Amino acid sequence: MRADESGAGEDSAVRGPAAGLPGPARDASGDGEGGDGGGGGANGGAAELLERHRAVMPNWLALYYKDPIELVRGEGARVWDGAGKEYLDFFAGIVTTISGHVVPKLVEALTEQANKIAHTSTVYLIRPMVELAERLTDLSPVEPSPVKAFFVGSGTEAIEAALLFATNWRRSNEIIALRNSYHGRSFGAIGITGNKGWSPSSFSPLNVSYALSPYCYRCPFGLTYPDCGVACAEDLRNVIETTTTGEPAAMIAEPIQGVGGFVTPPPEYFGIVKSILDEFGIPFIADEVQTGFGRTGEAFWGIESYGVHPDAIVCAKGLGNGMAIGAVVSRADMMDSIKANSISTFGGNPLASTYALANLDNIVEQRFQERAYKIGNALYRDLKDLEERYDVVGEVRGKGLMIGVELVTDGESKAPSAAAANQVMEICKERGLLIGRGGLYGNVLRLSPPLVITEDDAARAVETLEFAFGEVQNA
Ligand SMILES: Cc1ncc(COP(=O)(O)O)c(C=O)c1O
Repeated sequence: MRADESGAGEDSAVRGPAAGLPGPARDASGDGEGGDGGGGGANGGAAELLERHRAVMPNWLALYYKDPIELVRGEGARVWDGAGKEYLDFFAGIVTTISGHVVPKLVEALTEQANKIAHTSTVYLIRPMVELAERLTDLSPVEPSPVKAFFVGSGTEAIEAALLFATNWRRSNEIIALRNSYHGRSFGAIGITGNKGWSPSSFSPLNVSYALSPYCYRCPFGLTYPDCGVACAEDLRNVIETTTTGEPAAMIAEPIQGVGGFVTPPPEYFGIVKSILDEFGIPFIADEVQTGFGRTGEAFWGIESYGVHPDAIVCAKGLGNGMAIGAVVSRADMMDSIKANSISTFGGNPLASTYALANLDNIVEQRFQERAYKIGNALYRDLKDLEERYDVVGEVRGKGLMIGVELVTDGESKAPSAAAANQVMEICKERGLLIGRGGLYGNVLRLSPPLVITEDDAARAVETLEFAFGEVQNA
């Protein structure tokens, strides 16, 4: 399936897959107007750069907006495009720049390390990598001890490593994943991704069973929480008994489904899931690529909000605040089950590890988790108020500074409206607010700013969104 065949881009300025990253903006400035020869001009050279992008980049590489923008500078929660227009950044480079843009302390740490040595590889001892592993294993909710860490270059690669560890350890190629999940772009990762908009191939090294997504707004049983008894979680027992050997390698899940539209499970969900997994002795892997490092406010790791201790976690994005680094943190027996040699040339390199360490320190020192909780709660409350007042707003959900707004044609039918999401995104961009998009139907707005935002920033985002909802509803 082509990225833009999912319906999300229909009739819309924003083209692309349903699940969050609109696809190729083939029509944007398609007539060549607006180009300025690059570098300068009214649009800062974006139109000309787009032409070049189209010529040499794959056509499924997603770009937001009818007229895609180039972000050339950032500071805290603000970014500027090539034409000098300022935006409040409420997507943080896909839920990544958790400490904000151009944090002087982090730039200093990076520069200092770059002046010493940038790369050595894992065949030599790397002090910052060992220190980072110590910090991460200390912070991790993984049980039982001892716990170890392994570093790679991205979230996808960390997912691959976790799958390798679990399948080796358990001598099984069976994995349980969730419907509506997203775990990355490699064969193993797309094999456990439950979303057709992000599954370009059915080839997979794994035998995957998909459990139900805890998606209350579109409950797979048509039930309502809490009367449902969290039936989606209870159904896991049946999934194990009817679709696996009973001894799969692991179950993997995102504490909040990110690309899936910030689908936030009810409080009991993961407790029930974990107790069923424990009955069968099946390990649990939490994909914390989007939910880690205090973003969800209630806890440092998304899964901790649910009182669950996983056997492994996978993290990336916020760990490096933009630097390419990912990690698996897992019980040592799982990680050490690999019997052949394995290395990562770039994983945990001195530059990335130093930067990630400084970033982790910053997150803890600045108490970003508390900030995400406080500002996130206020933001959630104000957006919930808009849910009451605008029929196009189907549901507001999330935790901390990870808030999804699901848009529908009307509250009665709850029919997903990707067109409304596209319009809102365009209006917000015009008014200087960058937000993300996701959901199986491409109709969920994703708000995930750097955790440095102020209450005023949050208020401005709400004001801009309210204006956009009004425009879309009255169109
Ligand atoms: C939950 C989750 N897992 C894994 C990945 C893959 O990470 P990366 O894009 O760094 O490969 C992503 C990326 O969005 C993600 O959201």
